[in-house]
Amino acid sequence: MNPYETEKLVGEYLLFHYGSTEEVLPWRNGPHDALDFAVRCVTQCVDVAALPRDARALDVGCAVGRSSFELARHCGEVVGIDYSRRFIEVAGTLAADGSFLYLRTDEGAIVTPLVARVPQEVERERVQFEHGDAHALRESLGAFDVVLGANLIDRLAQPARFLAQLPRLVKQGGQLVLTSPCTWLQEFTSPEHWVGGYVENGQPRTTLAGLEAALAKDFALLATKDLPFLIREHTRKYQWSVAQASIWQRK
Ligand SMILES: C[S@@+](CC[C@H](N)C(=O)[O-])C[C@H]1O[C@@H](n2cnc3c(N)ncnc32)[C@H](O)[C@@H]1O
Repeated sequence: MNPYETEKLVGEYLLFHYGSTEEVLPWRNGPHDALDFAVRCVTQCVDVAALPRDARALDVGCAVGRSSFELARHCGEVVGIDYSRRFIEVAGTLAADGSFLYLRTDEGAIVTPLVARVPQEVERERVQFEHGDAHALRESLGAFDVVLGANLIDRLAQPARFLAQLPRLVKQGGQLVLTSPCTWLQEFTSPEHWVGGYVENGQPRTTLAGLEAALAKDFALLATKDLPFLIREHTRKYQWSVAQASIWQRK
């Protein structure tokens, strides 16, 4: 079964995207700079001042939607797309109702009910969520002023197919933000399709180098950033990772 369809990951991602500091990380000595990753993908990686009025944004692999809502602070239209029907159902409920009740796992079968809330000032009607496959996004999506693919490429069977669509999806002069912790795993991507994370002719091939090879014809690499993030599994267990963000401009 697709792990992103399970209630376990629905709960983990709702907490990851919408949880308060106290709900996610009550430990004083924990990595507090790794909180609010879905918000920081926008605040730290998108040049909001450069966006036109009524900008269009696309969030591919949006999960339960927090970055899509953050993009809606600056864009008149946001499309969030994910392959998990359950994630899209939950994100759609958040867009319609502004909140969603879920269970946080604390220890074994002990859970705490929590409410995920979209910040009140976000104009939720600007955001539309839909089920879709990053390998073959529908042509009728059109082109966007900003495209975000957060922690997506190393979860795709054939990331090159997603990357090949980006020139048509990003308007000339538009922004592309890709983030990845470069966690290449055979269960998601067979090694012949890895963008990086392998040795070729005795030389290490990084994910960033692979992205440059795939994108440099159509995009200029403006910057890279390290974005720590934290996914809480239960009260005493977390995944701490550092995504590498690459920020591109469509030529
Ligand atoms: C590691 S999660 C990242 C989610 C979110 N962008 C974030 O940063 O929290 C990867 C996401 O990609 C989605 N995904 C996996 N394969 C996909 C595909 N072929 N098309 C669209 N989304 C996909 C998963 O359902 C999941 O929501």
